[in-house]
Amino acid sequence: MKYSPWSHERAVALLATLREEKGAVLMALQLMQSEFGYVDKACVELIAQTFNKSRADVHGVLTFYHDLRTTPPPPHEISICVAEACQAVGARELERDVKAKFPQETRESYCFGNCALGPAVMVDGTIIGRATLEKIEVARQ
Ligand code: FES
Repeated sequence: MKYSPWSHERAVALLATLREEKGAVLMALQLMQSEFGYVDKACVELIAQTFNKSRADVHGVLTFYHDLRTTPPPPHEISICVAEACQAVGARELERDVKAKFPQETRESYCFGNCALGPAVMVDGTIIGRATLEKIEVARQ
């Protein structure tokens, strides 16, 4: 997945598009992560000012949701579904092997809606069905 480099001006412009939204803090954090790949620490103050919240309010939302990152992402992102249907067809064993090979890139997820083709894995935003370590290695290239 390609992300834009952090830019204060770009962040301000993006946040301006959410000014009228309810639940804007979470949406703003998600927007920052989708644009820059993570939520830069400068975003907390910026979001607080934009939506008239305290920094503690923004920080609380940021730290509550585990999918929100505060550091730049690794070069590739591998999410392995470990929900029940994928576990039944070897997701935990696949996770062990993938984590051993790509420890910084691998994380757990829960159901991509691809249950019939488990184990399901998402590599850089693309879902792979009946995933194997070999398929994941090819998808990372
Ligand atoms: S349980 Fe893995 S995609 Fe649904």
